[in-house]
Amino acid sequence: MVFRDDILAGKVAFVTGGGSGICRGIAEALMKHGANVAIAGRKAERLEATARELETSTGKRCLATPCDVREPTEVEAALDRTLAEFGRLDIVVNGAAGNFLAPASQLSYNGFRTVMAIDALGTFNVCRAAFDRYLRDHGGVILNISATLHYTATPLQIHASAAKAAIDSMTKSFALEWGRLGIRVNGIAPGPIEGTEGMSRLAPGDVAEKHRASVPIGRYGRIDEIANVAVFMASDAASLLHGTTVVADGGAWLTGTPLEW
Ligand code: HXC
Ligand code: NAP
Repeated sequence: MVFRDDILAGKVAFVTGGGSGICRGIAEALMKHGANVAIAGRKAERLEATARELETSTGKRCLATPCDVREPTEVEAALDRTLAEFGRLDIVVNGAAGNFLAPASQLSYNGFRTVMAIDALGTFNVCRAAFDRYLRDHGGVILNISATLHYTATPLQIHASAAKAAIDSMTKSFALEWGRLGIRVNGIAPGPIEGTEGMSRLAPGDVAEKHRASVPIGRYGRIDEIANVAVFMASDAASLLHGTTVVADGGAWLTGTPLEW
């Protein structure tokens, strides 16, 4: 453990995308540092299984709150369940996302809309509903999971790039409007992370092999490394961070090397 294991003691987090991958890792890390967590996603069975595994590995409580982040009423119900169960809400992590490789010339209207809806609208829906229900009156921390795709222009990723750019923009707007209410809003932009659904979709086969070598630290990131950034940013140690998106990518985006082109 990098941090003291009680730095989030007594806190409650709501983590979208927490059923798998990076956000499952974030949920587990928040729990290992003292928080109880609700995890959200569409697949109820996987969420339940993850929740039980995380309870076993951390000794804290994990509630599965299935919902589609594109549907405000489902989001509201999931947050209501979280509050009914835990009585508070201190940390909101927006990690739900969808992605695939597609050239702009062949991406369907609905394909573009779908990724924008999950990533960008989903982030707004969750922030807005959490604000109404709890954060406006009690303050808290919001962490929006972004990416570095839109810092340059990433081929075959017009949908995800636009969605993550929108998320970064919302991180700043929410920070501006909600800072005085004690709501600290930031983002994390991971680079390529080993062993994730994202990378298996974006770098199938030997594509990752070549790309990995271009990263200045000589490797892709690990889920636990992103989780540590999230624990830090959710904690009081990050009290002056507000409206910023922290890049955690081993310098990957600096080289501008695309995965495949
Ligand atoms: C082209 C595709 C496609 C593909 C779906 N579509 N997959 N188009 N190539 N591989 C199109 C469909 O044809 C459809 O358009 C539209 O997208 C919606 O598809 P549905 O399957 O109906 O959508 P839905 O069931 O809502 O599922 C959303 C999804 C799916 C994004 C398409 O893959 C999903 O649930 N993904 C969640 C997991 C995930 O993607 N994880 C990776 C996150 S990683 P038409 O026109 O046919 O109706 C990530 C990395 C960021 O974000 C950066 C890394 C460096
Ligand atoms: P992942 O395991 O596929 O995580 C995405 C999660 O989002 C899944 O648990 C999925 O659960 C959930 N989700 C998708 N659509 C949803 C919807 N409509 N409503 C509610 N939940 C939904 O992928 P990952 O690679 O770990 O990525 C996690 C986050 O990190 C994403 O925000 C991604 O953009 C970001 N990121 C990843 C990388 C990487 O290298 N992997 C790099 C940069 C950024 P259900 O299917 O159950 O809904």
